[in-house]
Amino acid sequence: MREASTSLVTGVAGFIGSHLAERLLHEGHRIVGVDAFTDSYPRAVKMANLSPLLGEPGFRFMELDMTQADLGPLVAEADFIFHQAGQPGVRASWGKDFDVYLECNVRATQRLLEAVRGSIRLRRLVFASSSSVYGQAQALPLREDTLPQPYSPYGVTKLAAEHLCLLYHANYGVPTVALRYFTVYGPRQRPDMGFHRFIQAALQDRPIVVYGDGEQTRDFTYIADAVEANWLALSPAANGHVFNIGGGSRSSVNQVLTTLEEILKRPIRREQRPPQPGDVRHTWADTTRAREVLRFSPLVSLPEGLARQVEWLRRMQRS
Ligand code: UGA
Repeated sequence: MREASTSLVTGVAGFIGSHLAERLLHEGHRIVGVDAFTDSYPRAVKMANLSPLLGEPGFRFMELDMTQADLGPLVAEADFIFHQAGQPGVRASWGKDFDVYLECNVRATQRLLEAVRGSIRLRRLVFASSSSVYGQAQALPLREDTLPQPYSPYGVTKLAAEHLCLLYHANYGVPTVALRYFTVYGPRQRPDMGFHRFIQAALQDRPIVVYGDGEQTRDFTYIADAVEANWLALSPAANGHVFNIGGGSRSSVNQVLTTLEEILKRPIRREQRPPQPGDVRHTWADTTRAREVLRFSPLVSLPEGLARQVEWLRRMQRS
């Protein structure tokens, strides 16, 4: 019998990492999951993300800080690496916190790439990049060959890490792929993100905060579609490339809130605040490349995905 593949998932206690690890287990991979439990949000929330995985045969967890630990032994056993770990969030990346972004997004990625350089076992390293690398769109939809001009310090660190992946591919043949996720949502979404905050406030009958006029748009991507993109990124044709991963559900914040009112069957009170530094006006993914090379095709519509996130948060509030 063929030995199962081993996948290393970094940031496994996070929103995307935990869903991805579940999917890979389902596909028959053995998983080594690592997480540093940085304080970007409470440890208890990350433990809840992790808990369905912990009892699974084939899943091994290690608490580990990628900016410090010796990564050599860890990567030596990996056939595939899904590098989801990082300091997330666009609006918090200013000021003294930039150091954390630099360390967790740039330094950790560089250390990982150094550790895998020369590995004869590694077949793919998938890097979690971001639509934030594009900055303020000059033309829409955004194509991968658009000149990236980040608009936030966070976007700068994601772009730097993405370039590191590509240059280790070009110089040393490390089999890297970068996926530029566009605003991922769904069950377990990070507590600082828009949908999580909107739904939580609405369920508790508190006003929600809208930054700016609410007419900014995002190409929202349901979590299962983002996970599927990671799976498809293992295709040989993906090697060395960058892909937009968008859900095909581009909507304004105002449209999202209208959909949420329909799901909850009640009005939502809004408080308007100034637009936030670093927030771009629009994102919209041109997914032609992902469609053609990866056969990527998002399946979950915004109303359906939003309803699933509402259900999840309702359950969380009851427990
Ligand atoms: C998200 C993630 O947080 C980043 O980690 C990721 O890299 C990025 O997507 C990406 O696609 O590159 P963002 O688009 O800002 O960033 O996602 P949300 O926090 O869900 O915000 C969506 C929109 O809602 C933004 O326009 C934001 O200004 C707005 N918003 C958010 C509000 O109006 N009020 C809030 O309380 C929160």
